[in-house]
Amino acid sequence: MQSAIKSEWLGETLRVSAPSNIALIKYMGLENAEEKLPANTSLSYTLEHARTLIEVKSACADKVDVPMGSARFLNFVKKLKAELLITESLSITSSNNFPTACGIASSAASFAGLTAALTLWSGKKIEQDMVYFSRLGSGSACRSFYTGFVEWQKYAVKPIALPFNDLRHAVILLDKSPKAISSSTAHKLVATSPLFKARIKNVESRLNELKIAISNKNWQEAGEIIKAEYLEMHALFSSANPSFNYRTSLCVEVERWCCDFVRLHGFGPWVTLDAGPNIHLIFRSNSEKQDFLTEFNNKYGHLEVYQ
Ligand code: PMV
Repeated sequence: MQSAIKSEWLGETLRVSAPSNIALIKYMGLENAEEKLPANTSLSYTLEHARTLIEVKSACADKVDVPMGSARFLNFVKKLKAELLITESLSITSSNNFPTACGIASSAASFAGLTAALTLWSGKKIEQDMVYFSRLGSGSACRSFYTGFVEWQKYAVKPIALPFNDLRHAVILLDKSPKAISSSTAHKLVATSPLFKARIKNVESRLNELKIAISNKNWQEAGEIIKAEYLEMHALFSSANPSFNYRTSLCVEVERWCCDFVRLHGFGPWVTLDAGPNIHLIFRSNSEKQDFLTEFNNKYGHLEVYQ
């Protein structure tokens, strides 16, 4: 089992970094909101290059310095300290090497990093109990502890051995501003969609189909399943009551261009969106990524790409 968490002591300060992850089969909707039990199993790929750095040291009073809302972070610090029996006051800083709260799963990296940091601070090893606990900060955080493909079932999180385990990632940044509807709100609202029941019934078989396609190294078929999955999640958003939407007309246009590229060339990225307007691209190799980005820049050179 390969840990994705990195840590080091610099004198009295503990530094921990945790990666983000992108869901290929999305966690969307809750079976139990208090327990943060997901309505379905999800499958992600860990984004080694998109990381949160957490620094912890002793302090006179608890204080946090975070790029996201500090109330949510501080609230989870309290829960973690109680769970890990930490009584001393701590100063905690968190920073990301990628844009925050716009659909690059900064909360996954932040809450995984925070959980890992306080676990190590308390002298414990990072084991399954704390990996699972991290979901109380942000559900997707529990998938950020392992490298490669990671599956989160209701009561367990585990890395999955599949081919294509050295993928490259980029995000077309169409909008870097924090999103108007948080994923916590989205998890609640999707239950009002008339499509939600059918999705929950079918999503586990889509997950199995995806795992089979990847196992068979069928890149194109896997890409089609991943696309159907994000479109379904966004259909839940637009059919919820009240309805909400992250896909701008530019987003739809660029998504279509990316998918056309794959169809025309017979190679190219898996395309997916999180709860945000930015387009995630996943490649098998650096050369596949460069070939795609060269053509992309010819057409959309004015758009920023995070990689
Ligand atoms: O971890 P949360 O509560 O921010 O929810 C994540 C939801 C999605 O990013 C849209 C999908 C996922 O599985 O990561």
